[in-house]
Amino acid sequence: MQPLSHVLPPSAATTADGHLSIGGCDLVALAEEHGTPLVVYDAGALRDTMQRYLQAFRAHDPHAEVIYASKAFWAQAVLRMVHEEDLRVDVASGGELFMALHAGFPPQKIVMHGNAKDAREINEALEARVGLLVCDSLDEIALLNHIAGERGVVQDVLIRVTPGVKPSTHEYISTGQLDSKFGFSLEGGLAAAAVAACRTATHVNIVGLHCHIGSQIFEIGAYPVAAQLLAAFVKEVGRDGLDIMDMGGGLGIAYGRADDPPSVEAYADTVMEAVFAEWDAAGLERPRVMVEPGRSIVGRAGVTVYRVTGTKDIPGVRRYVAVDGGMSDLMRPMLYGAVYEAILPERPEAEASEHVRLVGKHCESGDVLIKEIDLPHLEAGNLVCLPATGAYGVAMASNYNGVTRPAVVFVENGEATVVVRRETYGELVSRDA
Ligand code: LLP
Repeated sequence: MQPLSHVLPPSAATTADGHLSIGGCDLVALAEEHGTPLVVYDAGALRDTMQRYLQAFRAHDPHAEVIYASKAFWAQAVLRMVHEEDLRVDVASGGELFMALHAGFPPQKIVMHGNAKDAREINEALEARVGLLVCDSLDEIALLNHIAGERGVVQDVLIRVTPGVKPSTHEYISTGQLDSKFGFSLEGGLAAAAVAACRTATHVNIVGLHCHIGSQIFEIGAYPVAAQLLAAFVKEVGRDGLDIMDMGGGLGIAYGRADDPPSVEAYADTVMEAVFAEWDAAGLERPRVMVEPGRSIVGRAGVTVYRVTGTKDIPGVRRYVAVDGGMSDLMRPMLYGAVYEAILPERPEAEASEHVRLVGKHCESGDVLIKEIDLPHLEAGNLVCLPATGAYGVAMASNYNGVTRPAVVFVENGEATVVVRRETYGELVSRDA
């Protein structure tokens, strides 16, 4: 079992007052100043991970590309940072495209995804002149060809292939299997039909393949299996024009002390070596490899700080500790049964003394942040911090129960910057006619 530091941002430390700090900022002071729930990102850790990714992949090939999957956390501050660090960006909707453009991304560096893009989104992508558009269905290829024709442009595309690989992860975030709403399966000839459709379309230029087998993956041996199937497919349909192999995202992170995910470097070595070895073995010219990490870039860098609103002991049953957030800022426990750790910003070193259920403030019995955990004694007013909430946390936040979405701060070298302010009540009614 690893220490808790394993799931906290690397800069986590204890202050002279015995408080938990991140990026040199005391979380107790941050909660006082900015209120709770508060999402705090270690900005240095974000940048370091982006650079580690680039270095790990480019050690194998200087032309390898790292494309940040913005769905994991899409604030302007992180998108600007991704751009500054020279990564590309993956957007999965017209809205994400808008946010990437707004953050200053050159369109050429944007990869547009989405299994159900509509005509408006395709028009937006073409209007912006995105570098790559990933096609997910024959209808989409036909629609894209039509719209690009009307506009008199030719769009570079990748075809999303589902290789029939099913890594062990939650069913909701497993995407590479045959029975999937995503992409074209190798089995049954759907992928071959898609390549053929692109090759005959006059305003669609196929430049490669895409494959995303799932998310929160620890078993990186699934990537070589996918690579082998993809190389065989390229051989079958012909290498002509298929210069890019985008292997998607998916590297898992540690949420709990017992989790032991592979390093970015091990993942990069596995993916790059597998693709090159399989293409070499098939006698194919090597492709330019791209990857699309989301969670493994932002997950560990972020924590969420809540304030305890009250506790309740049900004799013979359990002790409940309720906090001022919940499923509206962190859906993952409810949606995927995700298990988080907790640490007390006021007493990070204190010994656990009670077994509790940490619950949110929403009108749902299922609004449970942590089902069972041993923690030091907690009372109303105390703070609780959940580590590793940087990915798919605020990115999936809602206004359920009229709860306003939390503020987000970046911390580094003892300085905190609000990058997303807390939502106001006024904003809750701002769209109502
Ligand atoms: N590329 C594509 C095409 C994707 O669909 C995804 C994630 C990624 C890249 C990034 O995957 P990552 O490196 O983050 O695993 N809300 C879920 C995760 C959904 C992932 C959806 N697609 C969760 O909280 O676990």
